[in-house]
Amino acid sequence: MMTTGKVMLVGAGPGDPELLTLKAIRAIEAADAVVYDRLVSPEVMALVPPGRRMISVGKEAGFHSVPQDQINRLLVDLAREGLTVVRLKGGDPLIFGRGSEEAEELRAAGIAVEYIPGITAAQGAASSTGVPLTHRGLATGVRYVTGHRARDAALDLDWDSLVSPDTTLVIYMGAANMATIARELIARGLPATTPAMAVASATTPRECRVVARLDRIACEAEGLPAPVLFFVGRTVSLVAAQGLPCGDWPERLGAAAHA
Ligand SMILES: C[S@@+](CC[C@H](N)C(=O)[O-])C[C@H]1O[C@@H](n2cnc3c(N)ncnc32)[C@H](O)[C@@H]1O
Repeated sequence: MMTTGKVMLVGAGPGDPELLTLKAIRAIEAADAVVYDRLVSPEVMALVPPGRRMISVGKEAGFHSVPQDQINRLLVDLAREGLTVVRLKGGDPLIFGRGSEEAEELRAAGIAVEYIPGITAAQGAASSTGVPLTHRGLATGVRYVTGHRARDAALDLDWDSLVSPDTTLVIYMGAANMATIARELIARGLPATTPAMAVASATTPRECRVVARLDRIACEAEGLPAPVLFFVGRTVSLVAAQGLPCGDWPERLGAAAHA
């Protein structure tokens, strides 16, 4: 009788493979099949040993090449073949990663599920840019917020609760809506001069950043290559002096491609 396999929902972190947990690396090495998102960096994908069944489900904000119900079914089917499956997700599977939705479906189908956390993009970008998420005298808390709604529905965030000069806001999937987000925050009282930062591909060799006032950030960051994360708050004033601005990103991407 064939035994049922299991699915490990593994956080691949923000991109730098050295930020993977030991547990994640062991899971990747032990996997029979790896089902991965577009957001997982090529540097992390290079760690998957040869011979694994590799399935891309190409998920990214605003672009779902494989619908979620098909991904769920795929995971169930692979586990029912008796395989150990790694479901590899960018950052942490439980932060804007739909990991818990997949786990619910798997458990309902009687499949064993395990979570392995990853470093979320906000933490990776905080370390690589030097912008702390909290800092005495500047921010007493941090909020992770989505800047995108499923199927491009209107953004209906609780704007008033987001306006706090003592909080660092980190906005995921916000590139398309950052102008609206900034406008709503300013309309509710956050100063237009609040420092803001956009970080593209944090922790990878492609990382670059744009720092500007809140009322300018959407315009200054327009066209940055995905994935992009936005920070808003007084902590952005502590951004490290070193680090690459995005002005020359096309040249650097080209140089990296030919290196
Ligand atoms: C669907 S969410 C997934 C978040 C992920 N689960 C996490 O914990 O980081 C995708 C968004 O995460 C952000 N993101 C993920 N990795 C990033 C990186 N290396 N640099 C900048 N933003 C990143 C971007 O805002 C992107 O649109």
